[in-house]
Amino acid sequence: MTVQIRAEQPADFPAIRDVLVAAFGEDRVADGVERIRESWIYRPATSLVAVSDDVVVGCVMITGCTVSGDAGDRVVAMLTPLAVAPDRQRQGIGAALVRAVLAGAEAAGEPLVVLEGSPTYYGALGFEPARLYGLIFTLPDWAPPDAGQVYLLPSYDRADPTLRGKIGYPPVYE
Ligand SMILES: CC(C)(COP(=O)(O)OP(=O)(O)OC[C@H]1O[C@@H](n2cnc3c(N)ncnc32)[C@H](O)[C@@H]1OP(=O)(O)O)[C@@H](O)C(=O)NCCC(=O)NCCS
Repeated sequence: MTVQIRAEQPADFPAIRDVLVAAFGEDRVADGVERIRESWIYRPATSLVAVSDDVVVGCVMITGCTVSGDAGDRVVAMLTPLAVAPDRQRQGIGAALVRAVLAGAEAAGEPLVVLEGSPTYYGALGFEPARLYGLIFTLPDWAPPDAGQVYLLPSYDRADPTLRGKIGYPPVYE
């Protein structure tokens, strides 16, 4: 069964909601995605779906968050959420979505992509602990210490002080 990855379209929104609710087992993330689409952090070009036989089987978004440090505030790319329909998991669809959305971020000239997630899962896809690059997440107590992750893209410049600081989530995530 071939899987195609493309940008989401409004006609996909109900099916994306179904995938998110099924994958996360609750409405909260799906509700958050609907708020994201109404907000300034929404980036339609890096909001992707995986489609198999005309059915949406997965989705991923890169939006924006802030890095606040000595050099001021800056918006950077953040990957969240990522979901694959439960009956299509462990077939490489999640990894394909992550690779495709990282390529989109690179094409958009982003220097890096951050996220909060499993170091095991995202580490296998090339993410590294964000703290190694001076990017500080405020994590919930239950999260693994390296749940704050970063993927460096070719235009990343380690000497750029605007790429170091505390990660802040826009109010839409609250
Ligand atoms: C996390 C998720 C998106 C993975 O999607 P997927 O299509 O099953 O992932 P893939 O098939 O691409 O898996 C890639 C690798 O990660 C491993 N993997 C898959 N799910 C994993 C998990 N939950 N934890 C650790 N490793 C996992 C797979 O074994 C695979 O490794 P392999 O190629 O060596 O076998 C999917 O399980 C999901 O939707 N989960 C619920 C929502 C969620 O937690 N999203 C992430 C946080 S935003």
